[in-house]
Amino acid sequence: MSTPAAITEDAVREQLRRVKYPGFSRDIVSFGVVKSVRISPNGRDLSVLLSVATNQPSVAQSINEEARAALRALPGVGEVDLQFDIQNPPAAPTNAGPSRIDGVKHVVAVASGKGGVGKSTVASNLAVALRRTGALVGLCDCDLYGPSIGMMFGAREPATATEDERINPVEAYGIKLMSMAFLLGSDDSPAILRGPMVTKYTQQFLRRVAWDELDYLILDLPPGTGDIQLTIVQTVALSGAVIVTTPQEVALIDARKATSMFIKTNVPVLGIVENMSYFLSPSDNQRYNIFGEGGGRREAARQQVPLLGEIPIDIATREAGDKGRPVTAADPSGAVGRAFMDIAERLTRALPV
Ligand SMILES: Nc1ncnc2c1ncn2[C@@H]1O[C@H](COP(=O)(O)OP(=O)(O)OP(=O)(O)O)[C@@H](O)[C@H]1O
Ligand SMILES: [Mg+2]
Repeated sequence: MSTPAAITEDAVREQLRRVKYPGFSRDIVSFGVVKSVRISPNGRDLSVLLSVATNQPSVAQSINEEARAALRALPGVGEVDLQFDIQNPPAAPTNAGPSRIDGVKHVVAVASGKGGVGKSTVASNLAVALRRTGALVGLCDCDLYGPSIGMMFGAREPATATEDERINPVEAYGIKLMSMAFLLGSDDSPAILRGPMVTKYTQQFLRRVAWDELDYLILDLPPGTGDIQLTIVQTVALSGAVIVTTPQEVALIDARKATSMFIKTNVPVLGIVENMSYFLSPSDNQRYNIFGEGGGRREAARQQVPLLGEIPIDIATREAGDKGRPVTAADPSGAVGRAFMDIAERLTRALPV
């Protein structure tokens, strides 16, 4: 009888992918629970470090039982040593924890670690692409200090109040929009908001706007992992987050930080969008990889999340943003428009119906 081949780290991770995070349809590997895998020199004994952010003992207990059973099923396995690093989840400002927004099926955050990588461009065009599939879509500009959604949609009118003192969103291209610019009347006079006011405004944008029935509410987040992002992940039940990055290493490092914030707060990362991936030269139709090639794809593979799409650097895309007509609305069959339609489709598939 031949002895089974030595167990590999890939085989261990593959096996752990069968274990779902309790209460979620995602597995513990894509949740980032598996921190390290060590295999003894004989290729038989396993030592796995698992990190969970929870204050419910039953979560660790259930992962422990299922992961152990999954690893025991590996052919030729010897000792299975599971170690748990149990961390407290970040404290929520209220005891209530994340909750749904009435009438909204999916809330999806568009985030990045680094500024200026194209979050607002991606959020706007994704909203347009989803709308073009017939879905009801809202887009909330959570960048209170640097709102840009008003400009990207050419929407300037101030928001009005409803009879029950909620805020009416401004509608453009069939999408319900909310932005600080609709309250202040300008995209270029940044709000001065301090400490608790940031949390309060963020809450109002999400809870006191008359979004009504929506299939998707897209949140355009400010860069980084500050107060606004924390308020959102701690109070709103997000269906997931889309991480935007550019291909160069400095952006990818920051993208990792954004991903890790979502994973720590149990928000699924739905995938990565690589923006400014390449330049398609109009003169010779050649593809120029200005910021290097394949960074987003490698990062997606590293984080074991889908690469939702690669968007070229495109003059019309920048102009469209400045002119207030998102490129996916102006030219849906162009290279960028099609890329966003594909991203919308992949995103829709990644979400439960
Ligand atoms: N694929 C692209 N091709 C050309 N220009 C782009 C592309 N994506 C974004 N831009 C331009 O780059 C600039 C920054 O984009 P955007 O405002 O979407 O980034 P952001 O990540 O939201 O920035 P911030 O961190 O300041 O919120 C804008 O002028 C936008 O029009
Ligand atoms: Mg922005």
